[in-house]
Amino acid sequence: MNIEGKNVLITGGAGFIGSHLVDRFIKEGASKVIVYDNFSTGNRNFLEKKPIEIIKGDILNYKKLEESMKDVDLVSHHAAELEVFTGIENTLHDLRTNVEGTINVLNAAIENDVEKLIYASSGGVYGQAQLTPEPEDHPLMPHWPYGVSKLAGEKYCLQYYLLYGFPTTSLRYGIVYGPREWYGRVLTLFIKRVLEGKAPIIFGDGKQVRDYVYINDAVNANILALKSEKANGKVYNVGGKEFYSINEVAEIVIKLISPKLKPIYDDPKPGESSKYQPNRKRLPGELRDFILDSSLISKELDYEPKTKFEEGVKKEVEWIRENLEQWNCQPRV
Ligand SMILES: NC(=O)c1ccc[n+]([C@@H]2O[C@H](COP(=O)([O-])OP(=O)(O)OC[C@H]3O[C@@H](n4cnc5c(N)ncnc54)[C@H](O)[C@@H]3O)[C@@H](O)[C@H]2O)c1
Repeated sequence: MNIEGKNVLITGGAGFIGSHLVDRFIKEGASKVIVYDNFSTGNRNFLEKKPIEIIKGDILNYKKLEESMKDVDLVSHHAAELEVFTGIENTLHDLRTNVEGTINVLNAAIENDVEKLIYASSGGVYGQAQLTPEPEDHPLMPHWPYGVSKLAGEKYCLQYYLLYGFPTTSLRYGIVYGPREWYGRVLTLFIKRVLEGKAPIIFGDGKQVRDYVYINDAVNANILALKSEKANGKVYNVGGKEFYSINEVAEIVIKLISPKLKPIYDDPKPGESSKYQPNRKRLPGELRDFILDSSLISKELDYEPKTKFEEGVKKEVEWIRENLEQWNCQPRV
């Protein structure tokens, strides 16, 4: 399927990944790009001066969603509650947004004869890795309510494919990073601290390994999945095919910004804060290793991540230096 000439609606289009998708859909020659977002975490600055339509709406508002999808050909569903702690503390809100919201998006799409839908899933559906890299048929035992609701969303997408023949593809992302990333995850915490002249804080021994995928590569996976019929009714891992321990992430950030700093190690209990960084709590059920096997999407859709981790981090650092207000960052380096 070609994207050129199509009307595309992106839920969560004002967010990190969604706003990059907006840019790419414009480049691909989409006839109309519509952002549907409640702006709970989304940012209007990411959408400035773009030839798009912006609808402020919640995916829990079915009527508005359905009206917004009139004449839409393709839907990219990226709106979600993705804060792990919010999911733990307010599980019903997480469930409503990620499950009821997804069902609303699917129903509105069916009602409007949408041709295809991409669902932003997460590697968080696996839970603790029983083998690495984790293939798509790895046991699904999410560690957090967030993983449960993302998994349910994925299963509903599959249901709509099986019941109604509605083409859906779910993409289980690794850790997507790059310009416009939201503040709060390890890489962003490290970058902000090091820019401010402070040492990054590593929890535990720092040997936990993570799968990082650069934003443009994640966007590319979306485009490949939209364009290929092979992807209909499928679930794919979308990783970066490069895996780094937290120690290595800290090393790279330090090397790029302030080579004299040394990381500090801390070992707070799950759910408790770091004494060095009181606003940062350790996740309960922290994953030891998070390494996706992205060979299926490579084999079926020719997906190949192009940006090396260090290069991607450099781009993210350049971006935040020019957009300090995004993370309330006060650099000293
Ligand atoms: N960033 C990652 O590394 C990552 C990894 C795995 C999965 N994902 C998935 O990718 C998607 C996008 O993530 P992101 O990192 O861009 O997050 P983000 O917070 O930057 O974007 C989410 C967007 O959805 C909007 N939104 C939230 N709730 C909404 C609602 N009820 N109605 C309408 N809009 C709503 C927010 O305002 C925001 O613009 C999510 O579905 C997330 O679960 C992201």
